[in-house]
Amino acid sequence: MAVRVLPARDQQFPLFPSIGEYPVYDDIVYDGFDQPDERVRAYRDAIDDAVGDKIVLDIGTGRDALWAIHAARASARHVFAVEQQPQAAGQARQAIAAAGLTDRITVIEGLSTEVVLPEPAQVCISEIVGNISSAEGAIAALGDARHRLCRPDCVWIPFRIQTWAAAVDLSAHRPVIATESLPYLQQVFNAVGQLFDLRLCLGGPVGMLPVSGAAPVESIVFDHRRDPPPPDTASTVELTIDVPAARVTGLILWTRVAVTSYMAEIDTLTCDTRSWAPIYAPLSPDGIPVRRGDALTIAFERATSDDDLHPDYRLSLTWPRMALDPATWTSRHHSGDFRTTHLHRELFPAP
Ligand SMILES: C[S@@+](CC[C@H](N)C(=O)[O-])C[C@H]1O[C@@H](n2cnc3c(N)ncnc32)[C@H](O)[C@@H]1O
Repeated sequence: MAVRVLPARDQQFPLFPSIGEYPVYDDIVYDGFDQPDERVRAYRDAIDDAVGDKIVLDIGTGRDALWAIHAARASARHVFAVEQQPQAAGQARQAIAAAGLTDRITVIEGLSTEVVLPEPAQVCISEIVGNISSAEGAIAALGDARHRLCRPDCVWIPFRIQTWAAAVDLSAHRPVIATESLPYLQQVFNAVGQLFDLRLCLGGPVGMLPVSGAAPVESIVFDHRRDPPPPDTASTVELTIDVPAARVTGLILWTRVAVTSYMAEIDTLTCDTRSWAPIYAPLSPDGIPVRRGDALTIAFERATSDDDLHPDYRLSLTWPRMALDPATWTSRHHSGDFRTTHLHRELFPAP
């Protein structure tokens, strides 16, 4: 497989595979979670407020059992820490033993949708929040937890996750994958068992990229007082161009996380965390010419893939000023053909 690569330091906006939504976690990825950043501070504050004398479920505890250990130290009655990756579950047990909390935290190895708890949880903590917020399977996994593993008055951490969209102009930047991400890229293809058009994130100063306003295309609240979020959905938003002129090559999609209903949201486009990066949805290789005030209509669709956990997505962009067919982006989680988008054809040249 040929890949167009360049070291990240030599690019303004390097591309790299979306991390977290594929079953590939290694020490580099887990090291990125264990940082004194906005994500960790918000989760710790939310846990401190919620867990006193409560039965806690931590879905996806990860290698370091960060939230489980913090919850036990914050006086949770007991914590059930579920982890699907066998190696990470073993390392989480070691971290819990090293913290002297073996009697307060039980690690359960497996997918949360396939485990049972001895008693229902009063607080459910998870950070299975993707770069597109639903991409790591939060809707299916937390919907199942709400139904089977948690009490009706359960406190949900996070309270809400959203995906926001904005138009970008990358016509002056040749897309190239960061050399450093090649081993991860290969692991994703190995895990899925085939080459396919995997989702790609943009690094660099991405907050300066939007050429339009931004709007939420999905908004997911887990609380029992509302209906459970539907696995499949469609929404339409309008984005207004707010620069004098540009060529719209695609959209960026990024996550906003309300860890509680009462704290400031984490906007992953602008905050100080390595945990998330915006997905680039390529729509037009040369860019659609636009000018200030133009309105773009974005239709967003989410549909559960055949693993019943991770969604597939479809976006289409129409712009009333020009009578052209909509530009579309179809992104399946783990299936579909390879090199179907112009971006993937450019990044993975034909041999
Ligand atoms: C983004 S990491 C978060 C790790 C840690 N909780 C943190 O926030 O730093 C997500 C972890 O959840 C695990 N995971 C994802 N979905 C899961 C599920 N439905 N059941 C169990 N583990 C899951 C992954 O294997 C990974 O270790």
